[in-house]
Amino acid sequence: MNNSAIGVFDSGLGGLTVVGQLFKFLPNENIVYFGDTGRVPYGTRSNKAIECYARQDISFLLSKDVKLIIAACGTVSSVAPHIADDIDIPFIEVVTPAAKAAVSASHSGRIGVIGTAATVSSGAYKRCIQQLDPGAQVFQNACSLFVPLVESGWFLPDDDVVRLTAERYLSPLIENQIDTLILGCTHYPILAPVIQRVVGDSVTLINTGETTAARAAEYLTEHGLLAEENTASHHFFVSDTADSFEQTAGILLGRDMPFDVKRVDIEQY
Ligand code: DGL
Repeated sequence: MNNSAIGVFDSGLGGLTVVGQLFKFLPNENIVYFGDTGRVPYGTRSNKAIECYARQDISFLLSKDVKLIIAACGTVSSVAPHIADDIDIPFIEVVTPAAKAAVSASHSGRIGVIGTAATVSSGAYKRCIQQLDPGAQVFQNACSLFVPLVESGWFLPDDDVVRLTAERYLSPLIENQIDTLILGCTHYPILAPVIQRVVGDSVTLINTGETTAARAAEYLTEHGLLAEENTASHHFFVSDTADSFEQTAGILLGRDMPFDVKRVDIEQY
């Protein structure tokens, strides 16, 4: 048993797709979330900047005495997974669990990956998939407008702007006849209803929020690190104003509850 919190970070709101799934898989766990809303997006920045931001995010979470860190960010997980080597507590990233789920879901071996520009150019998902299944064919596309759409609260399935944007990004993957699509950025599961409508029901979507939370549950169980029952508390930190985060987090997490959201000066870490 270990009642210390799980530390989760992302560039902004996207990591909440992992938090929402942690609520399901690990309802007793304390969670400390950091969303770097003052510096989002990460996915259009240099690898050096992404790594530097990720190190500060981790250093903040370590100051909260967490027992596990989840990089709930496809971009950090793709570009700087080696930062795990510099910390003394367990670290979970999003790429490996999603790649495993995609390989087991795909019948044709034709797997699509969508992510930020940095994620796609790192080739991390492709490498991981082809290590698991050397015969797999991987088709990637960077969907750079998805993160700003979500951060602006434009994610409802009936929104024409969101649908047209999704059609534009996803049509090359549909032409390549993928049967499985990894939502390789943690912001993208928020757009899953639109994405599913555009790619059609024959394509299996791999939700990185779900696969990452499932991996965390597996890890804590295997290592005897689960929290005791009825101890859960959830604390949210952001690097910009808390108000809009609070509002959107309520919608995304589907919870009508007051959120404890505080602003933190991340440059100090
Ligand atoms: N949620 C982050 C990811 O998974 C978004 C990256 C960004 O801020 O551009 O890649």
